[in-house]
Amino acid sequence: MNLEKMLSQKEITRSDLTYLMKLKSQSKLDKLYRAAYKVKAEHVGPKVYYRGLIEFSNQCQKNCFYCGIRKDNQQVQRFTISEKEILAAARWAHENNYGSLVLQSGELQNEEFIDFVEKIIKKIKKLSQNELGITLSLGEQKKETYQRWFAAGAHRYLLRIESSKQELYQQLHPEEHSFKRRLQCLKNLKELGYQVGSGVMIGLPGQSIEDLVEDLLFFKQFSIDMVGMGPYVLHPHTPLARSIDKEDSLKQRNLKWSLKMIALLRLLMPDINIAATTALQALDPVGREKALQAGANVIMPIITPQKYRLDYQLYEDKPCVDEKASDCKDCLEARINSVGDEIAYGEWGDSPHYFKRIQHKRTGGTTNAKDTPSQ
Ligand code: 5AD
Ligand code: SF4
Repeated sequence: MNLEKMLSQKEITRSDLTYLMKLKSQSKLDKLYRAAYKVKAEHVGPKVYYRGLIEFSNQCQKNCFYCGIRKDNQQVQRFTISEKEILAAARWAHENNYGSLVLQSGELQNEEFIDFVEKIIKKIKKLSQNELGITLSLGEQKKETYQRWFAAGAHRYLLRIESSKQELYQQLHPEEHSFKRRLQCLKNLKELGYQVGSGVMIGLPGQSIEDLVEDLLFFKQFSIDMVGMGPYVLHPHTPLARSIDKEDSLKQRNLKWSLKMIALLRLLMPDINIAATTALQALDPVGREKALQAGANVIMPIITPQKYRLDYQLYEDKPCVDEKASDCKDCLEARINSVGDEIAYGEWGDSPHYFKRIQHKRTGGTTNAKDTPSQ
């Protein structure tokens, strides 16, 4: 089958995905990216939605082998931003017409943390007269915790599966981190009515193109609403990095694979939200812009107060650590305009997929999923 035909099919098969992941010629890749951009423009618009990212704590009880803020990394200065500073960042986002926020931190499950997050969600809702959408990215939690935060006003949750291949997941984590529990958390979030986002790292040691294709099919099969996936980037103070040769060619490969994954996911799931993740920019100064051109439609500008940014480095060469939120705003606007996308200021930018999914479930009469207001 020729490339044009393959790219315009209604259903892309596993073997087509594998073939496309292996494309090498730049002119064919450009065709793939153009096809994915067209699908994005048709289904979610030639737009970019913003989620202001507040990385409010780098305390983490986990020890993922790849991550720079893992519990056993003693070289990190630990912080939790005060309520006052978090609310100031949220107010800044609101005043600058960012439609929504992401609250992210390492994983903690104690009562104090759960209460703190609940209180912050309520206060952000209040200070923005309910206008700011809130996405959480706070790891694995009990179902009742997810429920409490949902009731407080959060309506989207990001929890990456990291790799949908159980065997690889286990190689990347200590034994007590459970793949099954991660999957169960994703199911619980869905049942509670959240818009659910997940994602994987791309180019992990031991990961093949076939594994990545299975990741794409996993998102489809789970009927995920949003995906944030990006290249695996070494962090020198982690066990995984110590096992790898630091070759530049690996960076280039991971960047290329990531852009292909984004384009293929857009073809496979036209109506979901796909993020152009910051890790792309760690490998290429214009990595995120390339992702927008390949079908991504969400960007998460970092609005964490500047003084904490250096200590929230999950991987090496994280960009924007010296900038303030206002610097990032001006810089990003110019970058996005260069692609030809429009920034959808003041909108929550929920994924159309979510509404179709809950509608479908409702008519099937099998769910207690609640609707969430959109703008
Ligand atoms: N490279 C790329 N992504 C990473 N993450 C953590 N460490 C790294 C790394 N070294 C990602 C994980 C996690 C998310 C918050 O950050 O996918 O889910
Ligand atoms: Fe903690 Fe998340 Fe890093 Fe794992 S990836 S160590 S859970 S912050």
